[in-house]
Amino acid sequence: APAASGEVPAHAGPAQRRTSKLAIVGAGAVGSTMAYAALMRGAARHVALFDINKAKVEAEALDLGHGIQFMSMAEVVGSDDIAVCADADVVMFTAGAKQKPGQTRTDLAEATINLVSKVLPSIVEVAPHAVYVMVTNPVDVVTYAALKISGLPPQQLFGSGTVLDSSRLRYLLARHTGVAVQNVHAYIAGEHGDTELPLWSSASIGSIPLLEWQGVGEGASLTGAVRDQIAREVVESAYRIIEGKGATNYAVALAGSRIIEAIIKDERRVLPVSSLLTDYHGISDVCLSVPSIVGSAGVLEQLPIPMSVDELSGMRASATAVREVAKRFGY
Ligand code: 2OP
Repeated sequence: APAASGEVPAHAGPAQRRTSKLAIVGAGAVGSTMAYAALMRGAARHVALFDINKAKVEAEALDLGHGIQFMSMAEVVGSDDIAVCADADVVMFTAGAKQKPGQTRTDLAEATINLVSKVLPSIVEVAPHAVYVMVTNPVDVVTYAALKISGLPPQQLFGSGTVLDSSRLRYLLARHTGVAVQNVHAYIAGEHGDTELPLWSSASIGSIPLLEWQGVGEGASLTGAVRDQIAREVVESAYRIIEGKGATNYAVALAGSRIIEAIIKDERRVLPVSSLLTDYHGISDVCLSVPSIVGSAGVLEQLPIPMSVDELSGMRASATAVREVAKRFGY
């Protein structure tokens, strides 16, 4: 009942029901842009930002909150108290060291793993049922370490992987062929990093197998040389962006939002996220990206994509590279 003073409690009414909650750990370029993207897409009713920098996280939440009139209704809070993540449905982990020009993702491993072991257990304590998506680099190593640190089942904790790289690949293929990016079906698999590889043999454009694509209209065909060039450009994308503006944020934020929506809306989307492989084409005990079905329980299935001999050896090379880094840091 309303208080005697006539004040109406903010959340009055028996119809109050539990709604979707997204928690983002880290309010840097990636975390805050991901909050922005998720809000713009109406991905969650509640968005919580956590960062150890109180002034920064509160400012980001305020700035985001001021834009809500122009988006789907949502609430945004920012805090340096981990409790802000309580009972989240999804936790996106973006906190960590920043990749400087000239550094590889792997150079960040030690700093990020230390941070994850410090912060992740207390988040899991307040949000034990959340699906956890690691975004911080080197994401495959970090995801593997985070599984060990948290003890969470591999379905419930995975990495954003090559969702972003696959969108970079599709963007380049679309530009080259003159076909909308939404009609290009191609995945980057393996490490989110230097050893990643395009799965050409299963890719298609408007249902035509990509390897048979001859070009239509003004659009060019996709010769081996063109494909190699495109694959190189995908790998170099992040380096180029970091050189130019110090960080990548827009596309990774949208890729993150895609994953968030797949979880919150239980969409069962096929997304190349990084999860623990167990006898996947014979590869085990490493986190790598393969096209997987993502829904409210997390990674539901890893698709048994047919792979060529070259693709398989590329996957094995990725596995070796990621395992080596993990081992170096005791995982
Ligand atoms: C990216 O690929 C740096 O991993 C980040 O944009």
